[in-house]
Amino acid sequence: SPLVIAIDGPSGSGKSSVSRAVAARLGLAYLDTGATYRAATWWCLHEGIDLSDAAAVVAAVRAMPLAMGVDPGREVLEVGGADVRGDIRQTWISEAVSAVATNLEVRAELRRRQRETIDAERADGFSAGRGIVAEGRDITTVVAPDADVRILLTASEEARLARRARELHGEDGAEAVAATRDQVVRRDRDDATVSQFEVAADGVVTVDSSMLDLEGTIGAVLDVVTR
Ligand code: CDP
Repeated sequence: SPLVIAIDGPSGSGKSSVSRAVAARLGLAYLDTGATYRAATWWCLHEGIDLSDAAAVVAAVRAMPLAMGVDPGREVLEVGGADVRGDIRQTWISEAVSAVATNLEVRAELRRRQRETIDAERADGFSAGRGIVAEGRDITTVVAPDADVRILLTASEEARLARRARELHGEDGAEAVAATRDQVVRRDRDDATVSQFEVAADGVVTVDSSMLDLEGTIGAVLDVVTR
């Protein structure tokens, strides 16, 4: 029977790399829901929409021609035929995404599409019905509270900032960490209406990756899945 694994976590918890690797090892599909919010932001800006115009943003997102792959070994992310994999991870998107993601009608539309992807993998899809790892900030609680395995991936603020600094600046020296702190703290604050990760919801298993490297975190998540 299909296996649905839901993983939530804050920025820099390592949830994307860990979730992708877990999906690859278990032969499951992989859904990065953060990428759908980033793609929606890219699309609105591409369409010249003023992000403070909530109604215009909702209309654009409802019409967004998003093509997203679920193969953990090959990321496909196209909006209106444009490959946006590189763009969506740039600072100009990271800085704008909260404005789009805090719009409740946008969330309803993207959650509907995310849920469709999960249900398709339950039935057949890329995984041939084996299932999916879906990752984000509201997957264990709202998008797939019925998942077979639900994990909150946490890490100390120090560990999260060091990881983000290495991603953004290629190093984790004091200056790179300080620059990263400004960005991450601002986005966490802008996202505050979306989710806080202080406590895991009922039935959600917490995995703390502060002291683990990528391989160690993948192992810890696989332990939760197989126990
Ligand atoms: O870079 P990071 O891992 O923090 O973020 P991401 O997973 O790519 O998500 C980018 C943004 O999308 C977040 O800052 C949230 O604003 C939004 N998001 C959300 O609202 N709900 C989700 N399930 C996933 C992402």
